[in-house]
Amino acid sequence: MKIPRLLQFIVLVLIAYGICKLPQYLMGKPIPGSLILMYMFFAVVMILLVMTSTEESTRELFGPIKALVEDPSKALIRNIVFVIVPLVAGYLTYEQLKPSFEPPVELRSTHPAPPSTMKAFGKTYNLMTLENPYRKLEKEDPEKFKELVREGGEVYFQNCFFCHGDKLYGKGHYAHGFNPLPLPFQGKDTIAQLQESFVFWRIATGGPGLPKESTPWLSSMPIWQHFLSEEEIWKVILFIYDYTGNVPRAWE
Ligand code: HEC
Repeated sequence: MKIPRLLQFIVLVLIAYGICKLPQYLMGKPIPGSLILMYMFFAVVMILLVMTSTEESTRELFGPIKALVEDPSKALIRNIVFVIVPLVAGYLTYEQLKPSFEPPVELRSTHPAPPSTMKAFGKTYNLMTLENPYRKLEKEDPEKFKELVREGGEVYFQNCFFCHGDKLYGKGHYAHGFNPLPLPFQGKDTIAQLQESFVFWRIATGGPGLPKESTPWLSSMPIWQHFLSEEEIWKVILFIYDYTGNVPRAWE
């Protein structure tokens, strides 16, 4: 049995599309949509070129379409097709234009609302009640507290100052290479507005830990729980508040 030309054409186009989609299914690495569009354009043009190389084959290819439009005996199918095609086109357009209620990505919030709990170091923390375990030493044992701040400073200058700067203004050597910029800790509108639990969350989970509304760009802030201990994070927090003279925000 001879396969109708038009069907051959459709099958070949589908095969070409399948090949473009293959990397996504085999390796989980999709080819970008715009590239697929380009490949498909060339594939369709090539298939058409081959299939319309002679008068005869051209007639065979387009014959069924011509008949559908012109043949009086096909009036019923024609009418059905002429209803279905605009409906499908209308539906696809509607799908694309459907209003989205997501906040626009331009409105990136610098200090996003933290989740109520977070996971780090294999534990779950309740951010509503989490406190810096060393903070109480500020009053109870000022000598010990000073020592911890000094250790926090070491953590800072070994890990953070490349980006957040030696004076904590967010202007480290590497800072200009990043978008969004590393944030400053100096000033009253920075960590002074934040609770230590928030700062702990941001340091432990880094850029990838940011909720969706703040990630139109990728933050370069590393996931510090992979490199520092819990104690080191609490100490570096003591340091950044101490150095800048800021006081962490507390629950009223
Ligand atoms: C590779 C550069 C880089 C390094 C190194 C780095 N950070 Fe960051 N950090 C960023 C960027 C960029 C942001 C801003 C985007 C964001 O909030 O994720 C940021 C944000 C933060 C914030 C959030 C501040 C706020 O106001 O919300 C804290 C806290 C912070 N960093 C602490 C640290 C500490 C502590 C270290 C060292 C242990 C460190 N960072 C090392 C790039 C860096």
